[in-house]
Amino acid sequence: MPTTLESAPATPAAPATPRGLEGVVANESAICYVFGEEGRLIYRGYDINDLADHSTFEETAYLLLEGDLPTRDQLKQFRADLKAAQRLEKVIQRVIKDAPLTARPMNVLRTAVSASVFIDPDKGDNGTTAEYRKAVRLIAQLPTMVAMFHRLRNGQKPLAPRKGLSLAANFLYMVSGQVPDKDAERAFDVALILHADHELNASTFAARVIAATLADMHGAVTGAIAALAGPLHGGANMEVMKMLLEIQTPDRAEAWVREALAQKNKIMGFGHRVYRTEDPRAAHLRRMSEELGRKAGQPQWFVIQRIIEDVMKQEKGLYCNVDFYSASMYYVMGIPLDLYTPIFAISRVSGWCAHVLEQHADNRLIRPRAEYVGPMDRKWVPLRKRS
Ligand SMILES: CC(C)(COP(=O)(O)OP(=O)(O)OC[C@H]1O[C@@H](n2cnc3c(N)ncnc32)[C@H](O)[C@@H]1OP(=O)(O)O)[C@@H](O)C(=O)NCCC(=O)NCCS
Repeated sequence: MPTTLESAPATPAAPATPRGLEGVVANESAICYVFGEEGRLIYRGYDINDLADHSTFEETAYLLLEGDLPTRDQLKQFRADLKAAQRLEKVIQRVIKDAPLTARPMNVLRTAVSASVFIDPDKGDNGTTAEYRKAVRLIAQLPTMVAMFHRLRNGQKPLAPRKGLSLAANFLYMVSGQVPDKDAERAFDVALILHADHELNASTFAARVIAATLADMHGAVTGAIAALAGPLHGGANMEVMKMLLEIQTPDRAEAWVREALAQKNKIMGFGHRVYRTEDPRAAHLRRMSEELGRKAGQPQWFVIQRIIEDVMKQEKGLYCNVDFYSASMYYVMGIPLDLYTPIFAISRVSGWCAHVLEQHADNRLIRPRAEYVGPMDRKWVPLRKRS
């Protein structure tokens, strides 16, 4: 039982709470569930493998927000709503233009999302229909924000969203100026599907805690982006690619990992709080990374990764997670390393928004207690007597 401050003993007991809230069920949700032992993941009851094989990001985002797959007409309308909301208002463009060219894209994204509330037509309204419209605008605009900053820092003119493209193809177009081929578009679309939600991961929990104070959706998403940026969460994908670039060639891979483990370093892209077997998302990303790597004439990253996987399984019993193969897949697609985590955000925003909607639909403040382990009954000492 948690200790109350009023009854705390002189020597507080050891914390009873699991560190990092491991295994704690914090709320009910009908959006997404991770079956950690089996390595299964469902969105709204649909298996992630079915969604990865048959769905699109737009359809999946609709599913997360609405709870059901759209009909043909509903999907057409949803796509049209997203398309209509992709352009950025001048105020947001200015915020992005004012960012130093050396800024981290995740920080620019966080700031641009936060600033979006200034001009949001539904600002101040946390009702379901207003929040749904905000969600559509956020899903539509995050790709434009990321791409705009990227082009500005490269000294290139930002590109307006292009008509007739999926969200995945349009993002790749706005970053590179090239409409991707069908294979690249589909692989990227599947990656967006796979990243769209993941139950109460750290950034989604952060979003729900913020939303539960009845703060608005923009605030919740801003906080979620900040949480996602850390290397233990979404920031891991960029770190994976840095590691692969440092290893460089397959013949160096095994010794490199063994040495890193001997130094007690964490290998990015491995381990998970919930999965005790393979992350089901990793299998899709592994396959796509191999295919695109071969096509791009860069098969070595995949070979290095298979070696790392073997050593990690053997030495630590750990499986790779979503960030491991997404890194090499984005790399062979020519995407700059520091856009990997923003890409995670442009997908996960659909999940964050679904969770904010769910939280606000049946809200109670999230306010846990701490197990107090600090000193007790100390006497105040005047400043002049303190040494
Ligand atoms: C994801 C992660 C944060 C989960 O953390 P967690 O549930 O708190 O697990 P812990 O960090 O306590 O790790 C448990 C044990 O596994 C080891 N471990 C976990 N992930 C590891 C990794 N990537 N490399 C090496 N060892 C790892 C820890 O060292 C620890 O070993 P110990 O008990 O001997 O000290 C953690 O696995 C990690 O840091 N992974 C690398 C970052 C990453 O890929 N993040 C993206 C997650 S999708």
